[in-house]
Amino acid sequence: GKVIFNGHIVDREKAIIHIEDRGFQFGDGVYEVIRIYNGKPFTLKEHIDRLYASAQKIYMEIPYSKQEITDLIINLLEQENASTCNLYLQISRGVVPRNHVIPETVSPTLIGYLMPGTRPVDLMKTGGKAVITEDLRWHYCDIKSISLLGAVLAKKKATDAGCLEAILHRDGIITEGSSTNIWMVQNGKLFTHPANQFILNGITRQKVISLLDFNQLPYEETGFTVEQLQNADELFLTSTTMEIIPIVEVDGVKIGNGTPGDVTRKLQTLFEQEIE
Ligand code: PDD
Repeated sequence: GKVIFNGHIVDREKAIIHIEDRGFQFGDGVYEVIRIYNGKPFTLKEHIDRLYASAQKIYMEIPYSKQEITDLIINLLEQENASTCNLYLQISRGVVPRNHVIPETVSPTLIGYLMPGTRPVDLMKTGGKAVITEDLRWHYCDIKSISLLGAVLAKKKATDAGCLEAILHRDGIITEGSSTNIWMVQNGKLFTHPANQFILNGITRQKVISLLDFNQLPYEETGFTVEQLQNADELFLTSTTMEIIPIVEVDGVKIGNGTPGDVTRKLQTLFEQEIE
């Protein structure tokens, strides 16, 4: 197959990363995962804008225009005859002799390729389980950084417990999931953590907020406690690849009556209308 590599579309075998790429050595880079539905990228502009915002926050200048990256993606989707899948897009600082100091001149490494991925339709209906664990990541969670060790270790706690996701808390306040945003429904009102340095402002999260605004459904971007989460009427997570997944059990205890709730299912329906 073909991949995006430094401004070109090349054969996958030709895209080889240098041992001194700072993405490889320092996790010095940023990324996006973009959903492709029936060959068409979903919320592409939002993802490209966030990629540039992440790059800016780590003092990285992307040597391509947003239009150039958009064109590369459209080109790749055409050449790969894409249907429903995910696009992984990453830009790292580039290749330079190993040194913590950010080099003044360095040329970033851009890669992009398609990964298989169908919609998790079964999970959407049944819901999944989660564990709660302390958020031991850093304080730049708003940057979509490729340094993901904190997320990887949190996810291990979930999979070790046979669960789908690890829900993270900082000092008792729920932030987000290891790779998802977390929502609570209480008395018909939705709650999710505000978009600050403690969460990634998910594109799916933003899409859900616009659906809530449009449909005049009550919500608040405010922190809520572990205890509030445990006593929620409904819980769900959002992400590009998962869309909206009900969480029906946390740390072995059922949420609500242990099945996907009405508000969650309504939002799933509204979201589905967006992707058609
Ligand atoms: N994860 N929070 C974190 C920590 C994430 O890594 C992600 C995305 C989200 C949801 O963001 P969005 O709705 O824009 O996908 C929230 C991606 C999918 C991943 O790393 O695979």
